[in-house]
Amino acid sequence: SVIPVITIDGPSGSGKGTATALVAQALGWNLLDSGALYRILALAAEQSGIARTNEASLRTLAAQLPVEFTGERILLNGADISRAIRSETVGTFASEIAALPSVREGLLKRQHAFRELPGLVADGRDMGTVIFPEAPLKVFLTASAEERARRRYLQLKDSGETVNLADLVEEIRARDERDINRPIAPLKPAEDAVVLDSTTMTIEQVVNHILSEATSRG
Ligand code: C5P
Repeated sequence: SVIPVITIDGPSGSGKGTATALVAQALGWNLLDSGALYRILALAAEQSGIARTNEASLRTLAAQLPVEFTGERILLNGADISRAIRSETVGTFASEIAALPSVREGLLKRQHAFRELPGLVADGRDMGTVIFPEAPLKVFLTASAEERARRRYLQLKDSGETVNLADLVEEIRARDERDINRPIAPLKPAEDAVVLDSTTMTIEQVVNHILSEATSRG
């Protein structure tokens, strides 16, 4: 039988990461944070001195990424990088290499491997359009640019980073623009996606909305 998938795509700060974790928890399903894979690859490339334009080496690294997911922690070559990958600098690097077809190709199998019983909740930019196009429930989560910048700011500050709000607004804007305008797997809602604007919603409201959509689709 087919293993069910819920995809949650959207721009940075839309709340998809938190929503995905809570929906997966509520259903007892597995979780794929696909953005983390692009961030891990960016960090690994930086650590091994691979240039952002070196497609061949990035592809090889993507397919062989020595990464381990252990509950809350992410280990790269045995070192805990769960916090290091969350900086906006790594986010920007991730979005640059994410525009390369060979990088996306190199990470494809790894993403499909997360689809295990009893089900998967996957978040990213192209979960509904490219990676799991047959998913019965696809959500596209948005929020106003101001609200998304505010959420990312609080998130980064919470994790102990020094952030300048004006710089952050500009970095997020540039990253979203790059993600939306790239020719391959651009950030956009799937044709059959449920589009949810979370600007004035609480995270509980977002999660309940997604869960009720999931229930109504069986
Ligand atoms: O979601 P997150 O902010 O962690 O993603 C970091 C970057 O990775 C995004 O800006 C995007 O360029 C890239 N990404 C992607 N496709 C995905 C998930 C993330 O291109 N499915």
